[in-house]
Amino acid sequence: MHRLARRDLLKTVGVAGGFAAIGLPSAVRADVATSPRGIVPLDRGWRFHLGHASDPAKDFGFGGSHDTYGKSGDVGTPVAEAKYDDGNWQAVDLPHDWAVDLPFEQFGPPGSDADRTGAYQGFKPLGRMWPATSVGWYRRSIPIAAEDAGKRLSLEFDGVSRDCLVILNGFVVGSNESGYAPFRIDITDFARPGEANILVVRCDVSLGEAWSYEGAGLYRHVRLVKTAPAHIRQWGAAVRSEVKSSGAQVRLATEIDNDGPALTARLRSTITAPDGRIAATLLSDPLALPAWSGITVAQEAMLANAALWSLETPQLYRLTSEILVGDHAVDRNESRFGIRTIRFDADKGFFLNGKPVKIQGTCNHQDHAGVGFAVPDSLHVWRLEQLKSMGSNAYRSTHHPPSPAILDACDRMGMLVLDETRQMSSNPEGLSQLERMARQGRNHPSIILWSIGNEEIHRGTETGARIAETMKRRVYELDGTRPVTEAFNGKFGEGASRVLDVLGCNYYLDAIDPYHAAHPDKPMIGTETGSTVMTRGEYARDDKAAIVPAYDTDYPRWASTAERWWSFYDARPFLAGGFVWTGFDYRGEPTPFEHWPANGSYFGQMDSCGFPKDNYHYYRAWWGKAPVLHLFPHWNWPGREGEPIKVWVHSNCEAVELFLNGRSLGRKPVERNRHLEWQVPYAPGRIEAHGFAGGRRILTDRRETTGAPARVSLSSDRRQLAPGEVAVVRAAILDGKGREVPTASNRVSFALAGDARLLGVGNGDPRSL
Ligand code: GAL
Repeated sequence: MHRLARRDLLKTVGVAGGFAAIGLPSAVRADVATSPRGIVPLDRGWRFHLGHASDPAKDFGFGGSHDTYGKSGDVGTPVAEAKYDDGNWQAVDLPHDWAVDLPFEQFGPPGSDADRTGAYQGFKPLGRMWPATSVGWYRRSIPIAAEDAGKRLSLEFDGVSRDCLVILNGFVVGSNESGYAPFRIDITDFARPGEANILVVRCDVSLGEAWSYEGAGLYRHVRLVKTAPAHIRQWGAAVRSEVKSSGAQVRLATEIDNDGPALTARLRSTITAPDGRIAATLLSDPLALPAWSGITVAQEAMLANAALWSLETPQLYRLTSEILVGDHAVDRNESRFGIRTIRFDADKGFFLNGKPVKIQGTCNHQDHAGVGFAVPDSLHVWRLEQLKSMGSNAYRSTHHPPSPAILDACDRMGMLVLDETRQMSSNPEGLSQLERMARQGRNHPSIILWSIGNEEIHRGTETGARIAETMKRRVYELDGTRPVTEAFNGKFGEGASRVLDVLGCNYYLDAIDPYHAAHPDKPMIGTETGSTVMTRGEYARDDKAAIVPAYDTDYPRWASTAERWWSFYDARPFLAGGFVWTGFDYRGEPTPFEHWPANGSYFGQMDSCGFPKDNYHYYRAWWGKAPVLHLFPHWNWPGREGEPIKVWVHSNCEAVELFLNGRSLGRKPVERNRHLEWQVPYAPGRIEAHGFAGGRRILTDRRETTGAPARVSLSSDRRQLAPGEVAVVRAAILDGKGREVPTASNRVSFALAGDARLLGVGNGDPRSL
């Protein structure tokens, strides 16, 4: 493995790029001290080493013996033993994606199938072809004190890429095979209170789950949870609410597990309103909890003047669930929920709290420049803020459940979520993934739809319909307050589509009206819609250089442009709205250049760093509420004097007038959901657009021909870092007059001082290695 040394990392080159730095880690969460439940984040202090997917000798002996799984207490690797010295392993903190530091590799000769495979996964050496870099070992000790004897101890993983084996004190304590589904492992029997407890996780990404980059390793949080034997199950406090004229009726179903001797307890549920007032306290009758049993307790409250969750006022309630033995709380669990109504109507689209809301969404993978899949929580929030500033009100996590940080942030920020399971199957694994998604998500007011699949091969068949039936039944048992969809690309009306509550349409605009005419009672949503491919800041297609223009013109044959899909959806009230493919560029799937060195997608309205492309402003104009005027391209075209340049404007003003070096090139009225276009013979200087409303000029945008690059400017989204927080720092190349040079392509090296850590750098160029 070629591992970048810290010095190399600081020198990593970016072009007009951004980099992210992190502050100090958060301390153990305060509730550990005050709650009878201990939650210990296990993000800090891991050791990491690559193994080998098919060579036990290079995989710390793993797999060398036939009884690896047969004898759970002897995994056959010295790594699992306390005395093993991991001093020469790399020190890492979570979230961690070991593939970020791997070099880019060519998978095969240009144009070969292997080359195409490599392009799809972003040329990072992961998968069966690359056994030496597809296994990673993590190791650390976990704090289990002598006083923890008698408690129930469990590990919670928010998601691990990918197949993983979890070993504690030499025992295999669990495994998981989806890279996205969260999982929990009870480790009580294997823990040694008061002694060293060695946790080892072996991750194997030989088999992938997607057609783009998926990262590798412990890329989400891991926690140690300590509870009393009688405790509330993970995601066990489910809240359903019904809005009535007199307030909201809130029904709680709380799952209590008693992993210990019989006892009598009561459940106290306290609901705290968004303004901090206690809205309800519910105390159950004494509950007889037999030894080693589980029960579900139903409680109900009527909340007068309920504060509704909406996009504008995303108000959240808090539910505190406590198990009381006598007056003493032996377990306490906190969760958040929101009260709102949702409805999908086959004629009129989507309604939130009885009001129509057109869904203006983006699809997104979890992947960012410089950090890969290991996106810190505050960077997730930053990404959502950029989407919101674009006017987007909805997030589809493709094609898997998102990080919990995304769900929490969407609840807080007022973004709708389409939550999607990874494996569309009614086999035990598929149902288990679905169940974990629904349990984890069901209290989140932001989630409005469950998706059971995306473009599945069997979607149009009777088998597909049977699988969908079983999955839908399971979702209804666990939640039943949100409809079920699946993203269909064609075959609308066939197989599983008959089972869905809402038909999810990927592309194929031509099939939408005929389907609606034939199925007037089925609500519809665009699960994937516009799909323009764009290179930020480039304005001419160059297949050799793997560049597509940033005008809204180029798209794959199955898709359409921003302008085409959005005018189509906007004109049809029966469509609930849709999700653009994608909000951000991501590593892999570099359509239309499926070959070396293209390693990132071109679909984003922002590049992989989060720098807006021009289409970002199209959506800002037609999705947002503020006046928008965005003029492009840049005005640096030396050698093209006198030649026509295609000049576009995205604006929601009533009219726009264009000027070149002070001379008017005419005023044009703006048509709803359309861009404006001029052909302008190039002359260096200044091109300027004036936006008018009510006959008055309300906005001006201009591009100027700049001088040569002279200096670098850095700006950050924040001036101080709270512990665990990330700053996004933007580097720009300026000319002598302080103007950003849009065609600059300089090498930039970064150095960092102080107590922060450089997480990664990027430049957003999908071809950059
Ligand atoms: C869709 C698919 C997405 C992505 C997209 C690219 O068919 O669901 O995951 O591959 O095409 O256009």
